[in-house]
Amino acid sequence: MTEPILRVHELTKHFPIRRGLFGRASATLRAVDGVSFDVHPGETVGIVGESGCGKSTLARTLMWLDEPTSGSVTFDGQPVSSGATDLLRRQMQIVFQDPYTSLPPRMTIGDIVADPIRIHGTHPESEIRSQVNRLLTEVGVSAQRAGQYPFQFSGGQRQRIGIARALAIEPRLLILDEAVSALDVSVQGQILNLLQDLQDQHGLAYLFISHDLGVVRYLSDRVLVMYLGKIVEEGPAEALYAKPHHPYTQALLSAVPTLRGRRSERVRLRGEPPKPTSPPSGCAFHPRCPMAQPICAKETPLLLPSGPGRRSACHFSGQLAGNG
Ligand SMILES: Nc1ncnc2c1ncn2[C@@H]1O[C@H](COP(=O)(O)OP(=O)(O)OP(=O)(O)O)[C@@H](O)[C@H]1O
Ligand code: SF4
Ligand SMILES: [Mg+2]
Repeated sequence: MTEPILRVHELTKHFPIRRGLFGRASATLRAVDGVSFDVHPGETVGIVGESGCGKSTLARTLMWLDEPTSGSVTFDGQPVSSGATDLLRRQMQIVFQDPYTSLPPRMTIGDIVADPIRIHGTHPESEIRSQVNRLLTEVGVSAQRAGQYPFQFSGGQRQRIGIARALAIEPRLLILDEAVSALDVSVQGQILNLLQDLQDQHGLAYLFISHDLGVVRYLSDRVLVMYLGKIVEEGPAEALYAKPHHPYTQALLSAVPTLRGRRSERVRLRGEPPKPTSPPSGCAFHPRCPMAQPICAKETPLLLPSGPGRRSACHFSGQLAGNG
């Protein structure tokens, strides 16, 4: 096994909740709460979970766009921090969800893609134009349109431009935060295929964040399932989708259409996710879990190995992993 390109260790991000603008912190919101995982070169790791479970906060803190409360991140063996080198920062790039707001409206798409090249000085000025043209062509946007503005493009094309901008400084890891969620299903498919082609050509690693399990399955080698700031299950995509070891993953998966397009029997998740400012005692999933037992409200289950390449944080993972 190759060395991981990204190593996230016990990462936490807590936000103080204040009353009024200058009030004292009255509570702590544990948006990311002790998350550890690795990403290997060329690998796609998917992160799934309901809205508000901490996916975007995890992405931002591991890139040090927001400083973590505690924990560490290494990229290629080097610590990532506020003082990280330019080279290190270049190697991780992020693509956001909204292709309508993530591109500056008053810049031409040629300048948008050229911007990071200029900032990081990766190519001399004389080569920038051909580099931009190459990148646009690679993501399927005509280089002849480099002088046009974002509003002149469709949502899918804008996301292609966002991807070209992220690729401009030759990163090794792309973080895709709901990068296809705002697009129509057919356009989603085209962008997912583009991402796969780019990965094959450049050996990129992806951290692919989405609330959509179907989309995550399509692209991911390995999947992390988050609930209320913590990873509750991890495993190779095939195995995890075929047989989840955590009741939360089971519940999420039961709401996803099967491969034949039928919906499997739907296990409805009871209630809304709890507030991260006041998580339930013990296993945070217990108020909604169809399998909860008295121990679940008292003891927090640890994320422990539950099969080859798999981890699960449930007192009954052993039973779930063993049952046919
Ligand atoms: N700057 C902030 N200050 C206070 N709370 C925050 C801040 N950013 C995020 N949060 C809270 O942290 C929790 C996690 O938010 P986050 O945006 O990471 O979730 P998410 O999984 O990305 O959700 P979604 O699927 O809706 O994008 C939420 O409860 C959110 O309200
Ligand atoms: S520990 Fe208990 S409440 Fe939590 S997922 Fe497992 S069975 Fe459900
Ligand atoms: Mg998010």
